[in-house]
Amino acid sequence: MGCLPFFSVETWILLITFICIFVIYGNWTHGIFENLGIPGPKPYTYWGTIGRHNKVCTYFEIIFITKYGKVWGMYEFRSPMLAVMDPDMLKTILVKQCFTYFTNRRNIRLNGDLYDSVSTVEDDHWRRIRNVLTPSFTSGHIKEMFKIMKHLSSKLTASLTDHEILTQATMFMVAGYETSATTLAFLAYNLARNPEVMKRLQEEIDSTFPNKGAVRYEELLQMEYLDSVVNESMRLYPPAGRLDRVAKKTVEIRGITIPKDMIVMIPVYALHRDPDLWPEPEEFKPDRFSKQNKRSINPYTYLPFGTGPRNCLGMRFALVLVKLALVEVLQNYSFSVCGETEIPLTMDPGGLVGPLNPIKLKVTTR
Ligand code: HEM
Repeated sequence: MGCLPFFSVETWILLITFICIFVIYGNWTHGIFENLGIPGPKPYTYWGTIGRHNKVCTYFEIIFITKYGKVWGMYEFRSPMLAVMDPDMLKTILVKQCFTYFTNRRNIRLNGDLYDSVSTVEDDHWRRIRNVLTPSFTSGHIKEMFKIMKHLSSKLTASLTDHEILTQATMFMVAGYETSATTLAFLAYNLARNPEVMKRLQEEIDSTFPNKGAVRYEELLQMEYLDSVVNESMRLYPPAGRLDRVAKKTVEIRGITIPKDMIVMIPVYALHRDPDLWPEPEEFKPDRFSKQNKRSINPYTYLPFGTGPRNCLGMRFALVLVKLALVEVLQNYSFSVCGETEIPLTMDPGGLVGPLNPIKLKVTTR
């Protein structure tokens, strides 16, 4: 102890014990996946696997597929998170066992006054609110949106509290606004970069609504190429790059044990760019979603709106909105790239999948 003269033996023992506890605590949860026999990147004490192989997980999770396969374990700091890309497991988690084991998303409890929003509430509370809201979003109601709104509002007031109604209205704006805006921005970008696709789409638009005629609901939803273009753009840039569910109880799915409270994360962005599922995944090719090719796509490999009972409540509404806006713009304008267009795009590391800088394109009148 000659070189360490300042502390007594007792102090040293305390200090070393403290350091040991500190390190053990930081690694305490980090053995879970090894014990379960699930592969994954090695975690750092406290830090977990965040930033270990990349700066932004969502955009680079694709590298894990080649390394670990379709299921792997990660750690967000000390929290274990199971990443699942296997379509059969996804069907079980998102659809078959939605009501029994995987009803809820993770809740970081930062919602403030929006604590009872349909996207965050849990279990029976979620089922009740979702059941009240779902009828507002059927295709018939979307079509009749304006006429029916007054009628619906009376139904809502009978079934939800004042606070619940206010929360859902605010949440729809939050959930719907940025996702739809991002989808439209990426559509414009993809069309500008693929003029032959834009031309073909404009031809479909012009033949469906001649002489820049008014856009009608039925015809809009029957436009096949428009549907393919929107689907392909959302494959490359799904605004929600990840989905998640939390296991309510310990459950075994296809030989893999998922312990109670484990977060199951679905890396949608990586799934949409998996070269095993999508040849030339970086290319914008709407024909992947043509009527004929669509049949061979496994529905659990394409999840821009999630799936199962807890999927996006506003999906139909959002698709009508996005298609309508796109058709009306393309009736009158064309997009092309210009000197200021960023290729490839730098993605925003935080929140939704989106560009870091505003997308700049050239717009010409037709
Ligand atoms: C292009 C636009 C949109 C995209 C890409 C999108 C995507 C998503 C995704 C991926 C989820 C999670 C699904 C899951 O976990 O399985 C979700 C949930 C949700 N979305 Fe959307 N969304 C869009 C627009 C909208 C709009 C316009 C509304 C409302 C008017 C809306 C309302 C909701 C709600 C309420 C939930 C939570 C549902 C629940 O927990 O029961 N979304 N959305």
